[in-house]
Amino acid sequence: MLKLIKYLSSYKILIIVVMVFAIASTVASIVGPKILGKATTKLFEGVLGKIAGTSTTIDFAYIENIIIQTLSLYLVSTLFGYIQGWIMSGVSMDITYRFRKDIAAKINRMPLKYFDGTNQGEVLSRVTNDVDTLSQTLNQSMTQIITSVVTVIGVLVMMFSISWMMTLVSLLIIPLSMVIVMLIVRQSQKYFKQQQDYLGHVNGHVEEMYGGHVVMKAFSGEARSVEKFDTYNNTLYSSAWKSQFLSGMMMPVMMFIGNLGYVAVSILGGYLAIKKTITIGDIQAFIQYVRSFTQPITQLANISNVLQQTAAAAERVFEFMNEDEEIPESSEPLTLQSVNGIVEFKNVRFGYNPEKIVIKNFSAVIHPGQKIAIVGPTGAGKTTIVKLLMRFYDINSGAILVDGHNINDFTRGDLRCLFGMVLQDAWLYNGTILENIRYGRMNASDEEVYAAAKAARVDHFVRTLSDGYNLVLNEETTNISQGQMQLLTIARAFLADPSILILDEATSSVDTRTEVLIQEAMDNLMRGRTSFIIAHRLSTIRNANLILVMNEGDIVEQGSHEELLAHGGFYAELYNSQFESALVN
Ligand SMILES: Nc1ncnc2c1ncn2[C@@H]1O[C@H](COP(=O)(O)OP(=O)(O)O)[C@@H](O)[C@H]1O
Ligand SMILES: [Mg+2]
Repeated sequence: MLKLIKYLSSYKILIIVVMVFAIASTVASIVGPKILGKATTKLFEGVLGKIAGTSTTIDFAYIENIIIQTLSLYLVSTLFGYIQGWIMSGVSMDITYRFRKDIAAKINRMPLKYFDGTNQGEVLSRVTNDVDTLSQTLNQSMTQIITSVVTVIGVLVMMFSISWMMTLVSLLIIPLSMVIVMLIVRQSQKYFKQQQDYLGHVNGHVEEMYGGHVVMKAFSGEARSVEKFDTYNNTLYSSAWKSQFLSGMMMPVMMFIGNLGYVAVSILGGYLAIKKTITIGDIQAFIQYVRSFTQPITQLANISNVLQQTAAAAERVFEFMNEDEEIPESSEPLTLQSVNGIVEFKNVRFGYNPEKIVIKNFSAVIHPGQKIAIVGPTGAGKTTIVKLLMRFYDINSGAILVDGHNINDFTRGDLRCLFGMVLQDAWLYNGTILENIRYGRMNASDEEVYAAAKAARVDHFVRTLSDGYNLVLNEETTNISQGQMQLLTIARAFLADPSILILDEATSSVDTRTEVLIQEAMDNLMRGRTSFIIAHRLSTIRNANLILVMNEGDIVEQGSHEELLAHGGFYAELYNSQFESALVN
């Protein structure tokens, strides 16, 4: 809450203005009954006078005056309330906007490590639900707190000014209403929380089943899925029912208690009026005050509920805002005009977490224009090396140099611009095929995109599609095959025309014939560029200048294909086992 208040401090002046208007508006409406009461008294006295025969007229000019006064008070109150609401909506929407913007900017500054360990839905829910909760509280509850507190105090003052005895009697109902409000809030809060939890479960379940519906169907999981959904939905139903019923009960119960007070005040008021210690108008005003006394108390009880939710939401938002960020860019980053493409790894040591070192001591020098193959069993650390080169993660010790400069001396953006990358899991987004290829270089012309697609051997396939290059890929890219996705990302890399090329099992989902075709195109692309190729099928990397054989995070052998075969070690074993299985097939 303190942090939230600090966040609000840049709106200090506006919030003070809001407070002033809210207080003014409330005070104006509180004074109303007391003044109006004078009119009633005058009217009553006039009528009494007529009956008793002591006077013949009722002072209508006085009454008219009073009514105009009251009317203008209520008008002022409404006007102030309106202005206050207008400013507060602006402030709270502005804060919401800033929160969302800050979170979005923060997401871009987070290291990849954070995303490895968090659920996408979690971050998403902070950007949407939690910020929404904050925005609603700011917009509604803040002014409600101010008006409720001012109303309670103001009404009390007015009541005491009329009659302390009647005030004390009506105050007797407060402890009673407090207890009942507390009982109801405690019960309903339990069900509110349950409702929120199960709403999350229902959402999560639907999302999971929607995303994975092929798997679910393949394993005949429909019945199980429906059963699970029913359990969640039933609990949601009963908790929502109870919470809504309980919170709906609050108003009638409070009305009843208010009415008890009303009866007590009426009896006492009648008695006092007979004893002539109080005027009729004051009784009327007092009864109005008693009526408007219980409502702000109920409101405050509800708000304390809302504030707890707000605190929880604010905590989740600020927790995210305080997460460790990427190491800041170097203060005087290097800019390179042209890059030769010398890459050097010097005793690189790295682990995704400190306890488990994945790369132990990796050293290698790659000369410009060389084609480097990295091979090794699954989990050896091949992809990790690539991620380190692109500085997706920072290494624990050692150094990675490009053209003799430590990669930490560049900005991350500049560094990544040097590389063109095609990954194992082809990343495409919701957009047309044309847009997806153009992501490699945003200012490329349509002709350049087509040329890149031709080079990646995907042009023919795209042209057989009904919408061709304008086919919209859906979010999960289920409308084209895995192999076709990879070809599109290869076309993207062709278009980007980078200094250093990285292909991480880029052709693993493509048939052998297409692979041979792409190989030719890629040999063209790689000519004169430093390139890293990670491939499963060792036959495709035979012509590499240097093959680094990795196992368990270290280079166990290196050399050319012929040298490594002649050496008869780990590589020869890998190669022969693939060659044999190819023969058997
Ligand atoms: N994001 C990650 N967080 C933690 N451990 C990871 C992560 N990515 C990979 N690893 C681990 O690092 C090791 C090397 O993985 P990787 O470089 O992807 O292997 P591969 O040679 O198959 O490409 C594996 O043991 C893997 O479990
Ligand atoms: Mg890999």
